[in-house]
Amino acid sequence: MACPGRISPLRPRHCPAGSQTRPSPLTACWRSPPGRGVLTRELLTAFPTAEVAATDLNAAMVEFGARRTTGAAWQQADALHLPFGDKCFDLAVCQFGVMFFPDKPAAFREARRILAPEGRLLFSTWSTVGAHDFAAALTAGIERALPDDPLTFVTTVPHGYSDVGQVVADLAAAGLECLSAESVTLEGRSGSAADVAVGFCTGTPLRTAIENRGDLRA
Ligand SMILES: C[S@@+](CC[C@H](N)C(=O)[O-])C[C@H]1O[C@@H](n2cnc3c(N)ncnc32)[C@H](O)[C@@H]1O
Repeated sequence: MACPGRISPLRPRHCPAGSQTRPSPLTACWRSPPGRGVLTRELLTAFPTAEVAATDLNAAMVEFGARRTTGAAWQQADALHLPFGDKCFDLAVCQFGVMFFPDKPAAFREARRILAPEGRLLFSTWSTVGAHDFAAALTAGIERALPDDPLTFVTTVPHGYSDVGQVVADLAAAGLECLSAESVTLEGRSGSAADVAVGFCTGTPLRTAIENRGDLRA
């Protein structure tokens, strides 16, 4: 899902006094969360003269991304409380992060605050669990392992923000207009079912939920 479908050209812009980003001849893309730094690298390639700031809530993610993708200003930050001045950015991009924000309209309001009046916000969110074979297989396995009280994290958080009407309403609540929403289907591959299970169960917040129930290896 993306708003809007077209990215307008970046224009020269200066950050207001007191802002923590530097004025630059061509400012700037903000993107969060950076994860592995893949999107940050794409933005730097697409807009070689832009100043790019990359943030994530998780300091380890920021450290990892900063090592892999130089050229952006990396820093740990909560998307609900961004350490940037008002109207500093022409473009804000968030890849697979909004689903995790506890208050979506508040996060969108924050994006709006840092964007210039003609700025654009682009973000992606996953569809329902049923549309993702890996996630569907994982949740079926969890239901088998924990029949009395299956964990709902995967269904309700990463795959719990797929209703376009809800997203558009949250954007409107933040004073943003959705110019375009697009459904994209891509195919991913895994070396094995075990890789999928280990990745989800140990490399996502699902880990904490499983650990709270008992043995992660069960
Ligand atoms: C599924 S990962 C996506 C990472 C990366 N964008 C990618 O596409 O590979 C979700 C990310 O959201 C971050 N996140 C969760 N809540 C956040 C918040 N309130 N502010 C900023 N980042 C947050 C997590 O730390 C995590 O890195």
